Amino acid sequence: MKVYSDIIALQEYISLMKSEGKTIGFVPTMGALHYGHISLVSSAMSQCDITIVSIFVNPTQFNNADDLLKYPRTLEADVELLSTINCDAVFAPSVEEMYPKNRDSIQLDLGNLANLMEGQFRPGHFDGVVDVVSRLFEIVKPTKAFFGLKDFQQVSVITFMTKKLNLPIEIIACPTLREDSGLAMSSRNMRLSELGKKDALHIYRSLSLAKELASNFSPTEVKEKVITYFKEGSLELEYLEIVNPTTLESLNSEWINGATACIVAYCGDVRLIDNLKLID
Ligand code: PAF
Repeated sequence: MKVYSDIIALQEYISLMKSEGKTIGFVPTMGALHYGHISLVSSAMSQCDITIVSIFVNPTQFNNADDLLKYPRTLEADVELLSTINCDAVFAPSVEEMYPKNRDSIQLDLGNLANLMEGQFRPGHFDGVVDVVSRLFEIVKPTKAFFGLKDFQQVSVITFMTKKLNLPIEIIACPTLREDSGLAMSSRNMRLSELGKKDALHIYRSLSLAKELASNFSPTEVKEKVITYFKEGSLELEYLEIVNPTTLESLNSEWINGATACIVAYCGDVRLIDNLKLID
């Protein structure tokens, strides 16, 4: 497996692969890889000739300095893991390589997508995501790019960005992987204690309760009941919303297909995010 930190060298490799008619699958990550990431890599490997994974903890998408500082970094183990599954190449640039001085950062009006849910609690977060993903897309120019649905709003933002910028890249949204306990796999789980992991199960229990209640109550009623239930646990709720999967606007009285419950909560100082489709 090839490991690049340099954009020019990576692009030479990609040009060579493209000149041989190969399709490129791309999995952008911030490292601290878990089986959720590996499932994205497996999807890319099964759908494309060449799979490239980027590992870059993007400072511009963190609006909390402490969160950035504490984000797990396990580059050596990540590279080792990717090589054992025969990934083709890893791109692990430095901050200076990704963000040279005097570069122009992209300005894209994300409308409501940037203001709701994550946008409300992490102002500027999606500007940072759009900035880094558009730059990575420009460098790699993949045929398909793979993202996990655990970050439900991020998938909507990236799909919107790709359409808006007219990029010839297919965005593939992949299902959330869960531990047997139901806990959504996340790099941030590494920061949870054993007790924290147990407490964090309250997130999936609450989402499952929402799904159960959806057949008998309106979205507003489900939201109220699930918030009441959630508060019986020890996590601190940041938000719980039941949303239209396309616009991400909250649903009130009517259910629609694809209605999704999205939740963010703190387990100690670890911010956890999850979601579940309530109506198929
Ligand atoms: O989902 C993530 O890990 C990040 O937001 C991404 C897409 C790699 C951009 O930094």
